[in-house]
Order: sequence, then structure tokens, then C-alpha cells
Amino acid sequence: MKKYCLMAWQMFMIIVLVDSQNPNGFINVDCGLSGYESPYTELMTRLTYTTDADLVESRESGRIDKIFETMYPRPYWTVRSFPKPERNCYKINTERETKYLIRATFLYGNYDGRNTVPSFDLYLGPNLWTMVEANSTTMEVIHHTASQSSLQICLVNTGSGTPFINVLELRPLNLDAYTTPSGSLKMLFRWYLGNPDGGMIRYPSDVYDRYWYPPSQQKHLIPITTTLNVDTKNDYNPPETVMATAATPRDANASWTVEWIVEPPNTQCYPYVYFSELQTLGANETREFTMFLAGADFHSPISPGPLITTTIFDRLPTQCDGKCVLELTKTSTSTLPPVLSAIEVYTVMDFPLVETNEDDVTGIKDVQGTYELNKLNWQGDPCTPRQFLWEGLKCDHSDNSTRPTIITLDLSSSGLTGVIAEAIRNLAHLQHLDLSNNSLSGGVPEFLADMSSLLVINLSSNNLSGSVPQTLAQKKRMKLNVEGNPLLICTTGTSCVNKQGKDGDRIKNVVIAVVVASLALLIITALLILFLYRHKRRPSVVEGPRSNMQELDDLPLPIGIYSEISL
Ligand SMILES: *[C@@H]1O[C@H](CO)[C@@H](O)[C@H](O)[C@H]1NC(C)=O
Ligand SMILES: *[C@@H]1O[C@H](CO)[C@@H](O)[C@H](O)[C@H]1NC(C)=O
Ligand SMILES: *[C@@H]1O[C@H](CO)[C@@H](O)[C@H](O)[C@H]1NC(C)=O
Ligand SMILES: *[C@@H]1O[C@H](CO)[C@@H](O)[C@H](O)[C@H]1NC(C)=O
Ligand SMILES: *[C@@H]1O[C@H](CO)[C@@H](O)[C@H](O)[C@H]1NC(C)=O
Ligand SMILES: *[C@@H]1O[C@H](CO)[C@@H](O)[C@H](O)[C@H]1NC(C)=O
Ligand SMILES: *[C@@H]1O[C@H](CO)[C@@H](O)[C@H](O)[C@H]1NC(C)=O
Repeated sequence: MKKYCLMAWQMFMIIVLVDSQNPNGFINVDCGLSGYESPYTELMTRLTYTTDADLVESRESGRIDKIFETMYPRPYWTVRSFPKPERNCYKINTERETKYLIRATFLYGNYDGRNTVPSFDLYLGPNLWTMVEANSTTMEVIHHTASQSSLQICLVNTGSGTPFINVLELRPLNLDAYTTPSGSLKMLFRWYLGNPDGGMIRYPSDVYDRYWYPPSQQKHLIPITTTLNVDTKNDYNPPETVMATAATPRDANASWTVEWIVEPPNTQCYPYVYFSELQTLGANETREFTMFLAGADFHSPISPGPLITTTIFDRLPTQCDGKCVLELTKTSTSTLPPVLSAIEVYTVMDFPLVETNEDDVTGIKDVQGTYELNKLNWQGDPCTPRQFLWEGLKCDHSDNSTRPTIITLDLSSSGLTGVIAEAIRNLAHLQHLDLSNNSLSGGVPEFLADMSSLLVINLSSNNLSGSVPQTLAQKKRMKLNVEGNPLLICTTGTSCVNKQGKDGDRIKNVVIAVVVASLALLIITALLILFLYRHKRRPSVVEGPRSNMQELDDLPLPIGIYSEISL
């Protein structure tokens, strides 16, 4: 009795744990969910879903028509929509160098009462992922390795209605599975065979929460099932329910083909084919078959092991000119037809554009936060793609072996208040900083002088005070404009309009002219004094010139300005 109690208690503990905690790294976002309904536990999976309120700017949300609610699980019910601006992005925190299954789900469900299904583009970071046309439930799945500590998923209005999204899910995958030398893998389909009425299989049966569907057309197939345990442990870990069923062709001698279409025709694809021998073979029985993909041998011959999972795939993708054919044929010595439990097919997506330098992104986000800048298009990646460049920025894309960097920040006439943001110093590649025509107060910070790439700083027409730091005023390659700051004191040796543009050149010329003039004056004075001494102290001719030299040396020459003349 005691033992049973303990077991029951342990069971309870396990259920509580499953209830309150998603599997490691699972991210479940119910888009458009209101804050007070978040989080909740989805009944079928016991996974916890949370609102997207902190992940996007848009506050617009909706709910699908009541008639659909009974047909779909709860995460589908609410919708986040994006009437403006053109691009809206989700920022999801990820683990670096982790491969994720990313699933975005769209179900229009007449959420806006207009009965018009929009279409729009979906981006993964700076790259186009796919076009979404969400007449019925649309699910986009991609296996993508996160290179940075966050990932942007963006919806882009293409003029065919308001973009929207219902669910966003991320699941970490095994790094050794679904490998490709380049690009990411977009799912085309994922089927399991032998149980046409089995319905969709997902988490918790599938540890990665992949969705496995039975294809509706299985009339030409004979199902095979087992009640025994099937070992599913390999890099791909398919669900046991998927591997406990299989199918063989009705016509045992004919070739069995699985076909799919790829668009465009030169698309490269990766099939993953799952087998297990579920029948107990007699001593006189054998099952062996060949497998051909696009006319080429695909790891033949195959003889699935009893109740263990074999996953067949290639290390390199296959290109099949529009229509891909996978052909399974019994070998001449085999007594039994081919068998197949499941198949997944992915296509290779090349994502050539890289995200902006991560430190620059952090820096510009900090600046945005400091000034509470409400710039609608400041979403997604700041620099790429170029058509969505953030307003007020210019970026350097010239070296395609490195990430783009931010080189211009123009926040002139942006109603900025407070002090010059410390966060600016994190923009290490900045060449041009324009904060003119705002209401900035406080001092001109010293750190601007340490930013080695800065060439132009425009702080004109603000309410800055204190004095311009010497280090900044004396920077040689930097143009500084601090005009129109009535409270700003310009110390000796520095100028409030130091070295800027045409004005700067003019001022520099004036400075040089003044220095030359005063030098001339000095020399003339010295000569005059020398002359006078010679005349006054004729007797002490020997001492005279020495003391005159002394006097000349003692004159306070503006050393700093001399260095400027030498330029
Ligand atoms: C979705 O709509 C497009 C055109 O708006 C149409 O071509 C396509 O057949 C529709 N798909 C479904 C499943 O209704
Ligand atoms: C398959 O071929 C073998 C001989 O190659 C024949 O004996 C058998 O009847 C054939 N089976 C079917 C179902 O056609
Ligand atoms: C295999 O042997 C069994 C009897 O042990 C027999 O009933 C069956 O027909 C044989 N099958 C083949 C393909 O020869
Ligand atoms: C980088 O740029 C060079 C020259 O502009 C070009 O030849 C090369 O293909 C580019 N590389 C990539 C990966 O875009
Ligand atoms: C300065 O900003 C104000 C509004 O903040 C604007 O009306 C004005 O045109 C700007 N002046 C210049 C020179 O940009
Ligand atoms: C600095 O800003 C002012 C006002 O926005 C502008 O008139 C001026 O041309 C700018 N100077 C430089 C060097 O960018
Ligand atoms: C400028 O700053 C001073 C304090 O440093 C403040 O008294 C004054 O009102 C400010 N002027 C404007 C136009 O904001």
C-alpha cells in the first residue's frame, strides 16, 4: 500500500513537472494572445504557450471565427496582425550554434470579418523564407541553425493584404541530424505509412515535436503494424508510433514509387527514409529491395533490421529537375516486397544575406531604448536587406566576407532630449554622427574622441553645456560642429566650430593667418628689441645678443598651433 502511494506521488510529481515546464529549449508563442490569458497549457501536448506581446511592436490582434475554433487547437485561435509598417519582426532569443525546427502557422479564419485571404512574404532574418498564402491552414517549417543569440522572423506586406500569424514554435534539433553543407532545410512534407486513419502525430510522441501526417491515398498499399516495441534510437529519433506501422505495395513485384514536385525545377532536396522490419520472417523468407532517387542508386540494397529503425539519407542534396521520383524495387532473390514506414523531404534554402554586426545591432538598440525612439521601421535587421534599411542609418556592405556595419547615424530633428547617449560608443564603426537640431542637454562626452572611426560629428542646435573636451577638439581627422549651443563654452586652443566642412576650412585658414601674423609680429618685435638693445647698450656688445636670444626663447609661443601649421 505504502509503495503504491509513493508511486502515485511520483506520478503526480512527473505530471506537475511536465505541466509547468516545457522541454529544454522549446519556444511556444501564441500570437495575438492577450496578456491575461498567458501563459496556458495546451491540452493535447501539455506544452505551455505564451503571448507574443513582448516579441513584436504591433498591438493589433484578432480571433478566428467561432466556427473554426472547434476544429483547431487553442494556439490557432488568436491572430497577431500587422497593418503597418511594411516589415514587422519577431525577435526570438536563441542559443548560438543551435539547430532549430522553426514552425510558423497561419490560419486566416476570417479573423477580420473581411473574408479576403491576404498573401505576404515571410523572412528569416534578412532573407526571404517563403511567400505565405493562407487560404487554409498554412504551416511553414524550416530547420535553421541560429548563428547569433537571437533570431528575427519578419512578415512583409507585399500589397496583397495585411500580414498576420497565429503560432510560432521553435524546437532545438540534434546537430548531427538533417545536416547540409550549406543553407537551411525547408520542409516539403513528412508522412508516415500504414495507418491512414492514425491522424497527426507530434509531441510528446515525437521528442522534437515534428508533425507526422498519414497521406490520404494509401489504397495501393498493404499496412503492416506491430504491437512489439520498435527501437527508434538514432540521430533522427522518430516517434515509436510512426515506426510501429509500415506499408508494402499491393503489387509485390512492381516498382513502388513516391513522387513529389519541386519548384523551381533546379531545387535541391534531401529525402529521409525510415524503415524497420515489423514482420517475423520465416527461415525461407527474405526482404531485400533497391532504392533509386532521380534515377541514381540511393543506398541499395536495403534489408531492414527487425524492430530497429534505419534512416536512409544522403550527405549531399539531390537535384531532380522539377519532379523527384523515389523508386523501391524488390530484388530478384527477395521473397517479400519493399517496406516503408515514413518519409520526410526537405529542400535547400540558401540564405546569402548575413545580419548586421551584432555589437552594432546591440548599440543601435540601446540608442533606441535610451531616447525611446518611436521609429516604426526600426524593426528587424538594421542594414539588410537594403530595402528595409532603418531610417537615419547608412551601412557598409562593401566587404561581403564580414557582416554589414553601421557607419552613419542621423538622428537630427528627432526631438531628442536628455544627454548624449553613452550607448553611441558601442557603434564602433560609426563615421558620421548627426544629433543636430534636437534638445539635447548636458556636456559633450569625452568618449566621442575615443571613437576612432568617427569623421563627422554634428551637435549643432541643441542645448549642450559645459566645455568641449580638449581631446575631441584637437582630433585631427574629425569634423566637429557644435554651433547653436548657447551654453557651451569653447576653451582656449579649441573652437566651437572646429574643423567642420567649408566653414571649418575657412576657420582653419583664419587660424593659420592669425598665427602667421602673430609670428611675424613676434619676429618684428624681436628684431626691434634687438635693434634697440644694440643701440642702447653698445658697450656690452658681447653679452647683448645672448640675453636677447634668451628673451626670444622665453616668449610664450602657442605650441599647439605650430603643430597645426605643419599640416
Ligand atoms: C488560394 O488562393 C489562390 C488565389 O487567391 C488560389 O490560386 C489557390 O488555389 C487557393 N488555394 C486553396 C487551397 O484554396
Ligand atoms: C511475382 O513474380 C514471381 C516470379 O518472378 C511470381 O511467381 C509471382 O506470382 C509474382 N507475384 C505477383 C503478385 O504478381
Ligand atoms: C516458407 O515456408 C513455409 C513453411 O515453413 C511455407 O508455408 C511458405 O509457403 C514458404 N514460403 C515461401 C515463399 O516459400
Ligand atoms: C563578394 O564580392 C565579390 C566581389 O564583389 C564577389 O565576386 C563574390 O562573389 C561575393 N561573394 C559572395 C559570397 O557574395
Ligand atoms: C529642426 O527641427 C524642427 C522640428 O523639430 C523642424 O521644424 C525644423 O525644420 C528643423 N530645422 C532644420 C534646420 O532641420
Ligand atoms: C549640421 O546640422 C545642421 C542642422 O541640421 C546642418 O544645417 C548642417 O549642414 C550640418 N553640418 C554638417 C557638417 O553636417
Ligand atoms: C537649456 O538647459 C538649461 C539648463 O542646462 C535650462 O535651464 C534651459 O531651460 C534649457 N533651454 C532650453 C531651450 O531647453
